[in-house]
Amino acid sequence: MGNVHAKQYRKMSDVELMFHDRDGQRTTQFADRWDAGSFDSIDALISGVDVVDICLPTDLHLDTALKAIASGKPVFIEKPIARSLDEARAVRDAADKAGVPVMPGQVVRYFPEFANGHRLVKNGAVGIPAAARTRRGGKAPGGAQGWFMDHTRSGGVLVDLAIHDFDWLRWTLGDVKLLYSRSVAADKGTGPDYALTTLTFDSGAVAHVESTWMDPAGFRTAFEVAGNEGLIQYDSRNNAALRTVRVEDATTTSTAAETPQGDLDDPYYLELTAFLQAIRTGKPVPVSAEDGVRALSIALAALESAKTRQVVVPDRG
Ligand SMILES: NC(=O)c1ccc[n+]([C@@H]2O[C@H](COP(=O)([O-])OP(=O)(O)OC[C@H]3O[C@@H](n4cnc5c(N)ncnc54)[C@H](O)[C@@H]3O)[C@@H](O)[C@H]2O)c1
Repeated sequence: MGNVHAKQYRKMSDVELMFHDRDGQRTTQFADRWDAGSFDSIDALISGVDVVDICLPTDLHLDTALKAIASGKPVFIEKPIARSLDEARAVRDAADKAGVPVMPGQVVRYFPEFANGHRLVKNGAVGIPAAARTRRGGKAPGGAQGWFMDHTRSGGVLVDLAIHDFDWLRWTLGDVKLLYSRSVAADKGTGPDYALTTLTFDSGAVAHVESTWMDPAGFRTAFEVAGNEGLIQYDSRNNAALRTVRVEDATTTSTAAETPQGDLDDPYYLELTAFLQAIRTGKPVPVSAEDGVRALSIALAALESAKTRQVVVPDRG
């Protein structure tokens, strides 16, 4: 994700890039590829920059986020905001107390189909939303030293991947009252996983979320929202009139939208420019730390349900 973000920052003429990775070879490669400077520690990086962008494995978000907040540096932090609810609240509370902006990377809000789907539902295109369905997934992600497959670090498919849909659904349909989830590997806590989650919202609407790291056919997203006056549907497999696959995408589990996009329509560009614009103008960041906490709370409730086979009420604290 450091590379994904760097590609976007490189489109911004007023952004200078500095980088740190504990792997020296990755640091050198990154600095060469993106014409970036580098620091040999996270502490040095935090004190040497204006804004911190955290693309570390999920279980390492907390420490760096707290250090950056303590230094008064605005923080962009990849989703999930943290690995546990206590950690996520610690980030949110520290940010609130210090008055430091923190924006979690719930990037699906910036994918054009999902952004338009949200707008349509909010503008009444389907009437009163009653039922929704989402589908997201592909092959299992690799990551440095395979940390994604250790669910104690990544949270598995429900926390790492389904969190995108949980956030989009909460943004679009409101808070989740209760949910039930089943998964192939939540008990095992390791390896690829496939999960189905059924959610009931405060509004009475229901949703079904399918999340997979076990689809060899490649990455695909889909959603459908039905209401008393209509239905909207999207499926990334049906959409692309023109499809571009680049070598670098084929070797990663890139989440780039499959519909053709201009350089400045890229969802990651849109989210990072929105973040920086909020900081420059002193306005609230468009996706708050609280949004990150709530999305994680739904994801962790789904993980608990998948393990206990019980209905779970997400914690809203
Ligand atoms: N928004 C999205 O579409 C999206 C997609 C993939 C991943 N993510 C999230 O982004 C984050 C990073 O995921 P990734 O796919 O880039 O993982 P990755 O494993 O590819 O990259 C993590 C990097 O952190 C470095 N690192 C690990 N421990 C470190 C330490 N202690 N100090 C310094 N560097 C260290 C590793 O060497 C590696 O280069 C995760 O939270 C993940 O959930 C978001």
